[in-house]
Amino acid sequence: MNIKILLDQHFKSAMLKAGIPRKCSPSISVSARSEFGDFQANGAMAAAKIIGANPRELALQILDNLDPSEIIEKVEIAGPGFINIHLSADFLSQQITSLGSDESLGISKPAPQKIVIDYSSPNLAKEMHAGHLRSTIIGDAVARTLDYLGHSVIRQNHMGDWGTQFGMLIAELEEQLSEGEQAQLALGDLEVFYQHSKKHFDEDKIFADKARAYVVKLQSGDKDCRKLWQKFINISIAHSEAIYRDLNVTLKSNDIRPESSYNDDLDNILNDLKHKNLAVEDQGAQVVFLDELADKNGNPSPVIIQKSGGGYLYATTDLASLRYRSDILQADRVLYFIDARQSLHMKQVFVLAKKAGFVAENVSLEHHAFGTMMGKDGKPFKTRSGGTIKLTSVLKEAIERAAILVAEKNPNLPENEVSSIARKVGIGAVKYADLSKTRTNDYIFDWDSMLSFEGNTAPYLQYAYTRIYSIFQKAGIKKNDITGSVNIVAEQEKNLALKLLCFGEILDQVADQGFPHILCSYLYEIASLYMVFYEHCPILKENVELQTKNSRLILSKIASLTLAKGLDLLGIEVMEKM
Ligand code: ARG
Repeated sequence: MNIKILLDQHFKSAMLKAGIPRKCSPSISVSARSEFGDFQANGAMAAAKIIGANPRELALQILDNLDPSEIIEKVEIAGPGFINIHLSADFLSQQITSLGSDESLGISKPAPQKIVIDYSSPNLAKEMHAGHLRSTIIGDAVARTLDYLGHSVIRQNHMGDWGTQFGMLIAELEEQLSEGEQAQLALGDLEVFYQHSKKHFDEDKIFADKARAYVVKLQSGDKDCRKLWQKFINISIAHSEAIYRDLNVTLKSNDIRPESSYNDDLDNILNDLKHKNLAVEDQGAQVVFLDELADKNGNPSPVIIQKSGGGYLYATTDLASLRYRSDILQADRVLYFIDARQSLHMKQVFVLAKKAGFVAENVSLEHHAFGTMMGKDGKPFKTRSGGTIKLTSVLKEAIERAAILVAEKNPNLPENEVSSIARKVGIGAVKYADLSKTRTNDYIFDWDSMLSFEGNTAPYLQYAYTRIYSIFQKAGIKKNDITGSVNIVAEQEKNLALKLLCFGEILDQVADQGFPHILCSYLYEIASLYMVFYEHCPILKENVELQTKNSRLILSKIASLTLAKGLDLLGIEVMEKM
């Protein structure tokens, strides 16, 4: 049971008995410092304001009405009306003992929902670049967390596989194939291929005309064009899937539902919008004007559904996909992990989808936006010449850098072990550096800080895990064999235990808000509290009593399981040594 909820109920009933209105909350929170107790109830101040009472006196009245409880050892009033709560050591010992044999690590499963998560979703015309990293790994961490909490998670990789660029690309592919080139080879480097076709398109008028004609043919379902297009798409998808594997991201082939899969529904979307008098003709185009998103001068926000030439747009496809997600997938929530620069687009699509009835009223549509990835110089992350940085080269460099560090730290490690550890450390570092920052901000990509073994980094947490592992090894036991009861005595044990008991609550927050950094900060606190505990509370020293030793081993076991599970939910692997 969540301690915060227990305390909330307990204090709520005291407040009601004291005659405080039901709408007032006890405001239970974890104390920032141990001299303020373990938890605080700060609701007296707000309640006093509402009923016009003296807050300190009101706090006193709450305490007068508080039933005795085995949870609480003592309470005291501080400052203008804070109530400091000290938990009883017995209660805490008992809670942490039962956590020690709880495989789910104390999570309480919420009512399961159907949750669609749109993430990664790269454009297939080009190779995945550094800019795709954020959506891919933040979305994946949230998907894993929701899965773990028992929701039915439906991943949707809304890949961009349609649009005018593909005319140019398949015209180029056709030409290269006719010269005897093989598709695999020609498309071995998508970035080079793209640049090459673009140059061709800009410099050769005949080629450009052909490329434009191919767009039309493609749209009208011409067999040969479709075949070429499919060849291109398959190879491009294979590039992305290799990255997902390297990145330890859970997206699979059947999560792909690309833009083109909605092509046949786009006419319907337009017709429905016309019937509902939402889409109107404007300079030959079909446009919806949304008053809901009007600017400060009252001009409605225009959403183009169909261009004057007849082509459909990004928004049209997103409306079709939303209808599919609501009607067919039956989503309760639809989460989008997309760059903040697409905020207006998302707002328009959400408002219009509800207005047109494409999505049921009670479906929660959520854009979980994130900032831009910046270089150390504070400018968008680019190559020296201003080009985009390929994701494969970022990952390769991460592993190479990690290998140097691991070999330095552990000179006797055989080479194959170094490379397996380096992969986990390097990839972990890249992912954690991103996940641990508040996603809504821009984020600075910096090799040195992400690969540091100190501070809030993946290597620090992975290292903490190996340290605990080595304790079990020294003791000659497997962590799953450690059972028995915990007895909380020392301050450092108490602080660690209290934190370990919050895992479920932290995951609920990540699930609600889609902010993995909350989990990262939590894991960092666990690792740091564990280090302090380990320093002050010897486990394997000779003079430690058997019962104490076992109690501390259980605490170690829970800390180790929590670190491993938490990192797993972030898509980061742990290892036994590093
Ligand atoms: N392909 C788009 C891009 O690279 C992202 C798609 C996001 N998902 C969506 N349903 N709009 O910018």
